[in-house]
Amino acid sequence: MLQQYNPKNDHIKVYIDGKLYAREDAKVSVFDSVVQGGDAVWEGLRVYNGHIFCLERHLERLQNSAHALAFKDIPSNDFIKKAIFDTLKANEMTDGVHIRLTLTRGKKITSGMDPRLNQFGPTLIILPEWKPPVYPPQITLITSSVRRNSPMFLDSKIHHNNLLNNILAKIEANHAGADAGLMLDKDGYVSEANGVNVFCVRNGVVMTPYASSCLPGITRGLVLEICHAEGIPVFERNLSVTEFYIADEVFTTGTMGELTRVSEIDGRSIRNQQETSILKKIEGHFNQRVQSTLLSTPIE
Ligand SMILES: Cc1ncc(COP(=O)(O)O)c(C=O)c1O
Repeated sequence: MLQQYNPKNDHIKVYIDGKLYAREDAKVSVFDSVVQGGDAVWEGLRVYNGHIFCLERHLERLQNSAHALAFKDIPSNDFIKKAIFDTLKANEMTDGVHIRLTLTRGKKITSGMDPRLNQFGPTLIILPEWKPPVYPPQITLITSSVRRNSPMFLDSKIHHNNLLNNILAKIEANHAGADAGLMLDKDGYVSEANGVNVFCVRNGVVMTPYASSCLPGITRGLVLEICHAEGIPVFERNLSVTEFYIADEVFTTGTMGELTRVSEIDGRSIRNQQETSILKKIEGHFNQRVQSTLLSTPIE
């Protein structure tokens, strides 16, 4: 699965630190922390029908990630919201849009790792693109040799821009002709795929790895909420790759692709031995939540 260039995005306006720039002029300084060390935090957001889905939850995660990295002068949620609304309005975007929201530690006075060199405050970037959910109806996975960071190394609860761990897994998947790399944790249990969380369903029970080495995704959280609300048995626990091979259904979750069925892992096809699809049921409830706008924020 390779995303394609969309000429509709030729003339988008991108927000950087209070100003809107044409696509080709939207640049950050070579002294910016994101260039120097991937020292930034980010969120992917979706706009549906004049509303930003789960905006409050994404902003909470952004704030927490920035606080955990000891950023100084983090802009308030109200400030970020206004900047997002202004950017969407300038682009006349109300639907079918993905926003990449990034907050870097900001510019440094000279090259160097030390955050004390960051004396200008953080850089806020809002990149909106015309982009409906990007995943095909089914994807394939291979198990990657690259392990997902545990809290012993770099805590995956911080949604940071230092994405090499996941990019290496994606490179392996590309070489193997699969859509994504399934990453294990330091003990060999499944953690997540390189850019999405993973679930499996067996005998009517939905399971997902503990969020110890994976990003606690907003979509993952919603699926757990849906299962609890709709009386679908669901557990977070350690899961081996074998449990994914023999599952009735496997699916991934993420803002970029919503809920996506996995058809094959490491050459093993995922065979549903049941007569019904729990994934379809969950998807129905997920779409209802997207449509209902209860979890969304209207573009002001
Ligand atoms: C590594 C990783 N896992 C999972 C996800 C899915 O998270 P969410 O559902 O919040 O989009 C993302 C999204 O950015 C991610 O980068």
